[in-house]
Amino acid sequence: MAIKIGSRIHICKIAGTNAGTGSPDKPLNAIPLDNANAEIYIRNDINHPFQPISKSALKKELKWSKIYFSKLSRAQQQEAQSSLVQENQDSKLKPNAKLDISKYEHLPFVRIDEAINYVDKQVKIAGWVHRQRVQGKKMKFLVIRDGYGFLQCVVGSDLCAIVDMQELTVESSINLFGTVKKVPEGKQSSNGIELIVEAFEIISKAPGGDEAFGNILNAEASPSIQLDNRHMVLRGETASSCIRFRSLTLKAFRDYFDSKNLCEVSPPLLVETQAEGGSNVFAVDYYGNPAYLTQSSQLYLETALPSVGDNYCITESFRAEHSVTRRHLSQFTHVEAELGFITFDQLLGFIEDMPPQKPFLRMEYTDAIQWLQRNNIERDVYVNDVKVGQEPYKFGDDIVESAERTMTDTIGQPILLTRFPVELKAFYMKKCPLNPALTESVDVLMPGVGEITGASMRISDYAELIKAYEREHIDPSPYYWFTDQRKYGSVEHGGFGLGIERYLAWILNRHTVREVCLYPRFTGRCSP
Ligand code: 4AD
Repeated sequence: MAIKIGSRIHICKIAGTNAGTGSPDKPLNAIPLDNANAEIYIRNDINHPFQPISKSALKKELKWSKIYFSKLSRAQQQEAQSSLVQENQDSKLKPNAKLDISKYEHLPFVRIDEAINYVDKQVKIAGWVHRQRVQGKKMKFLVIRDGYGFLQCVVGSDLCAIVDMQELTVESSINLFGTVKKVPEGKQSSNGIELIVEAFEIISKAPGGDEAFGNILNAEASPSIQLDNRHMVLRGETASSCIRFRSLTLKAFRDYFDSKNLCEVSPPLLVETQAEGGSNVFAVDYYGNPAYLTQSSQLYLETALPSVGDNYCITESFRAEHSVTRRHLSQFTHVEAELGFITFDQLLGFIEDMPPQKPFLRMEYTDAIQWLQRNNIERDVYVNDVKVGQEPYKFGDDIVESAERTMTDTIGQPILLTRFPVELKAFYMKKCPLNPALTESVDVLMPGVGEITGASMRISDYAELIKAYEREHIDPSPYYWFTDQRKYGSVEHGGFGLGIERYLAWILNRHTVREVCLYPRFTGRCSP
């Protein structure tokens, strides 16, 4: 749409068309999406004058226009495709000509991420049709995805005359044979190269019509449709990049632990104990006896210390969360480590060394309470589960997620929030030697996401641990193996757990942790 940025665009909901110019006498029917800075005038009735659009109407109109243009572009593509079919059926080329690919079969099979090393050479590429665009009457641009990257492929008129190419559908799998070329100066492609296709072979056709990929997933697909079709969403650019980045991140954590000489261990996921309190455990029937899906592998890592020394695991943890928030999952990947013969300060240093930037702001729980008081952030007061008002935060209050996030987002940098009161934290946390009301604990808070890591020094004294079980009304018998660590050569130790999805949501700036899971599990969702 050739409208000057900053100019006035007139939209008429009755007489506007997509062929209009945006002037008052030739109004448009939708707001061109690339003209965000234009002044929009609108009328809903041809007998009324054009009026500047209100803020709320603009928001609604933009949403509608986005859907309209995405439908229009699909319709135009289909039209161009069928005119190409017609054109070729009319031409001398046989539409159903069979391609002889035997002379291409010797070509090296190259993954898209390696194609850059084959400029001016003939190769075979295999993948899925990610997008296709018909250019003019006799040319097609395909974007092929192979899981390693995306490659633009140019299909000329001879090949476009073949029925299989004319009827090619998005998400079909395909072999392409051709020459890798640098894209001509001034033209764009994501990796600076394209494939000039000389022959092709469809491996498996994806459906068209109602079942076409674009009819399942498009701009109109609601979040729940997207979740039901997560297997399809994963084929998209954003989702696949998140999953690949997740893999690189897990490797980076393993490399970091390896550089510090930590041993990777594989703890059980079916357990009899509750590491983080009983309210959100998944109970399972284990051969007729009660068991749980693990909330954290920490207790097991502690027992591996005298066996293999400092150790870590990257494995699944489960929380039967009842609230639906953008940072809670029922199953998440937990990066946990346990370090022996350390002090609280050394534990903080180890955690700080892991993420990309340091130092982090260090803030004690008591300072956070004062910060909330100074900034008039109050906590809700409930009587019998009914909210009866608000009051200023005071020492001993659990800082709720929203207050914690407001504080972290306002401060705007990573925070190591330390020394929480004993009552707010898990039974195993060591008390501060100078103030036994507090624990040697830390939460790592990141802007935009909130808590991504929970950590602490652990109680090393046998009698103190027994008292902690009592205080929390925990039956110590199923924990005998954990207690034994304090009996058979106890040492000072501490560790942490980091939720990889929260870490990724922070670093990739994603709205929710669900976007960085292969298949998210959260309240009520267990499919696909
Ligand atoms: O703070 P948490 O509950 O700490 C523990 O489980 C300790 N036993 C860890 C340890 O010291 N080894 O959980 C640690 C981290 C949180 O900071 C968060 O990143 C993640 O695990 N996490 C969740 N992530 C997604 N959804 C949930 N429901 C989560 N619960 C915890």
